[in-house]
Amino acid sequence: MRVAMIGTGYVGLVSGACFADFGHHVTCVDKDSGKVAALQRGEIPIYEPGLAELVGTNIRQGRLTFATELADSVREADVVFVAVGTPSRRGDGHADLSYVFAAAAEIAMEIRDFTVVATKSTVPVGTGDEIERIIRKRRPDANFAVISNPEFLREGSAIRDFKHPDRIVVGTTDERAREIMSELYRPLYLNAAPIVYTGRRTAELIKYSANAFLATKITFINEIAELCENAGADVQEVARGIGLDHRIGTKFLHAGPGFGGSCFPKDAQALIKSAQDHGAPLRILETVMAVNEVRKRAMARKVAAALGGNLREKTVALLGLTFKPNTDDMREAPSIALITALRDLGARIRAYDPAGMEQAKLVVDEIDYCDGPYSCAENADALVVVTEWEQFRALDFDRLKQVMARPVLIDLRNIYRAEELTRFGFIYHSIGRPSVPQETIKLAAAE
Ligand SMILES: NC(=O)c1ccc[n+]([C@@H]2O[C@H](COP(=O)([O-])OP(=O)(O)OC[C@H]3O[C@@H](n4cnc5c(N)ncnc54)[C@H](O)[C@@H]3O)[C@@H](O)[C@H]2O)c1
Repeated sequence: MRVAMIGTGYVGLVSGACFADFGHHVTCVDKDSGKVAALQRGEIPIYEPGLAELVGTNIRQGRLTFATELADSVREADVVFVAVGTPSRRGDGHADLSYVFAAAAEIAMEIRDFTVVATKSTVPVGTGDEIERIIRKRRPDANFAVISNPEFLREGSAIRDFKHPDRIVVGTTDERAREIMSELYRPLYLNAAPIVYTGRRTAELIKYSANAFLATKITFINEIAELCENAGADVQEVARGIGLDHRIGTKFLHAGPGFGGSCFPKDAQALIKSAQDHGAPLRILETVMAVNEVRKRAMARKVAAALGGNLREKTVALLGLTFKPNTDDMREAPSIALITALRDLGARIRAYDPAGMEQAKLVVDEIDYCDGPYSCAENADALVVVTEWEQFRALDFDRLKQVMARPVLIDLRNIYRAEELTRFGFIYHSIGRPSVPQETIKLAAAE
């Protein structure tokens, strides 16, 4: 089959490369000529494990090409995917659909034979209706079906997620479109990935509801973590204790510094707005957003408390800046709010991230960027684990203790245990767990 992928970002590039790997002929189109030129030279503009190899192989085998103009690829395509960005609209938090609508208007002019126009971008319920209207208005004669095919891949494990999805959602009532989509995804269907066929509006809402639910789950455990800290319980054991219940499940129950990233914050916000417009406000989600916002700044107060309450003239070293490991994506990373709040409290900041520093420098300045965890920790009064990259999971604490001004570790991802760190002579704070081992507390209580 012939596929045109409009938008070659985290979703478009991975989806396009994976479809090519299935054997389809794919052209990835992007307005960003620098990005397209880099891809044509074989350079990958984002950090995503395995992507360079996948893209390289499919270019060499002649199934994956890149372009800055969509005309040629759309004319030949069986399916045109819209995978452009849908960021938060400045000022009101609605999804900014201007890129989607602009792409739809351009696609309209190039449609030849029957073409499926599939929205992969995350869009509010009803957006498919508007895309259809835009195309129909420009091309009353065109033979096409607008469908919703939301994407659920996660940055950092995007290729695996795309090739082994929990489900594929296809929102359409058009039989021809349904046949084409089932042919396109056939390689996955053979792997027994379920395809959920549903209405277009329902498909659009499935994507937003999934992200909203996951954001709620994270926020729930973050609040329980706060309660654990105050009440002397251990949130990781609570999470395990509830997660083993199959109705709840163990995933997304890791307490941390609040959710961020390119999707959850903007999608939750856009769903809140769209629900209000439909007269069905989502109070739970509104609260989730408010709790999460406060939490990110609260992490700075946690750092301050670990250093006796005052951060003036103190140096804080941050390990990890991206919103999660294995990506260079800095969009809405909790580290941004944390850094602002630490600065407001008077701290000097040093930071290191294995892949995200180039992106971080575009959004966070006036901090010292370092080239490794140990140089980052030099003369620091506290070391903070912000993102749980693998390389931070086995740090050399003897070495850290030598270079730091004070041996204080604040672990916002709970990757270490208090007992271990206490053995190395560190003062250790984590999320939703006692700062000192339970046994010490029990002993003290018994005395
Ligand atoms: N990033 C994720 O993990 C993820 C996961 C699932 C869904 N999504 C959704 O997928 C969509 C894309 O997200 P992303 O992270 O890939 O965005 P991105 O910003 O990385 O990429 C979007 C690309 O679209 C290009 N573009 C914009 N208008 C264009 C046009 N008219 N023609 C051609 N190219 C155009 C931009 O230059 C950019 O390269 C969003 O709606 C997002 O919510 C993202």
